[in-house]
Amino acid sequence: MQSVGVIGAGQMGAGIAQVSAQAGYAVLLSDVDKARAEAGKAGIAKALARLVDKEKLTAQARDEALANIECVDDVSAMAPCELVIEAATEREAVKRQIFETVGKVLSPNAILASNTSSIPITRLAQASHDPARFMGVHFFNPVPVMGLIELIRGLATSDATVAAVEKFGQSLGKEIVHANDAPGFIVNRVLMPMLNEACFAVGEGVATIPDVDTACKLGLNHPMGPFTLADFIGLDTCLEITRVLFEGTGDPKFRPAPLLIKYVEAGWYGRKTKRGFYDYSGETPVPTR
Ligand code: 3HC
Repeated sequence: MQSVGVIGAGQMGAGIAQVSAQAGYAVLLSDVDKARAEAGKAGIAKALARLVDKEKLTAQARDEALANIECVDDVSAMAPCELVIEAATEREAVKRQIFETVGKVLSPNAILASNTSSIPITRLAQASHDPARFMGVHFFNPVPVMGLIELIRGLATSDATVAAVEKFGQSLGKEIVHANDAPGFIVNRVLMPMLNEACFAVGEGVATIPDVDTACKLGLNHPMGPFTLADFIGLDTCLEITRVLFEGTGDPKFRPAPLLIKYVEAGWYGRKTKRGFYDYSGETPVPTR
């Protein structure tokens, strides 16, 4: 495999494009328009420049990685790609539309993969060119730092597709785990109840937001406490995944915490809106309750 298409140049798509380009793949990067794709590439250039400044990457390796990324107008330019990874907005209708459009130009042997964190792979596969060549490939944020990829096979995914995507993931230097097509796969199945429970605890007055964060950071040796992490991921995303767990399993243990719902209803989504469980408008984050 030599050529990879990445659809979506936001945080996840740009990260996937970056690590693929650094591993030597020819990457075609698209978004709703070329300007958005170019903005994603500019972010990658900044991330690579920081690595050069820290002497973790040579200037030559940075230039080679950037030269490996070509921004394209739309997904119809992905025809030459052997693997296309979709990392667009986490909305099923948007993803289905993308799969239908890109499926018309892909070669019959090409593999299409989705970076969805919550939508069932078997259902998404229905909009793909070939469900045997469709699967989930779940990266973690920040992609260049996080060492894991979850692979999720749908009911119709072939062994050859899984093997090819596994080889690709390993070539990026990532550890691979396999999950069945069940709500939340592995990581979000375990993580989201923890973040949700932290919301219940604060909502019930057990402790403050910073004390829960400090407790988990130092008491569990987590790099970030649950509220800092939820803000980092996006509270809208956390709620969406928690709802998928709740609705997908029918188990009340996954019911979303009222505090989480309240923050999302307020439009306080975390870092991306500069306010979530913390306010990020100043120098240091300040708890919002
Ligand atoms: N891109 C590239 N590199 C980055 C980065 C980014 N966005 N953010 C941080 N880094 C690098 C830094 O350059 C630094 O590198 P160095 O050690 O070589 O100098 C290293 O990561 C550590 O960064 P910092 O010193 O700035 O800060 P921290 O030590 O606090 O680390 C963190 C930041 C890596 C984000 C760390 O806090 C962490 O691992 N947090 C947990 C992240 C996590 O759990 N992610 C998974 C979320 S769940 C998910 O993605 C699934 C989805 O479906 C919801």
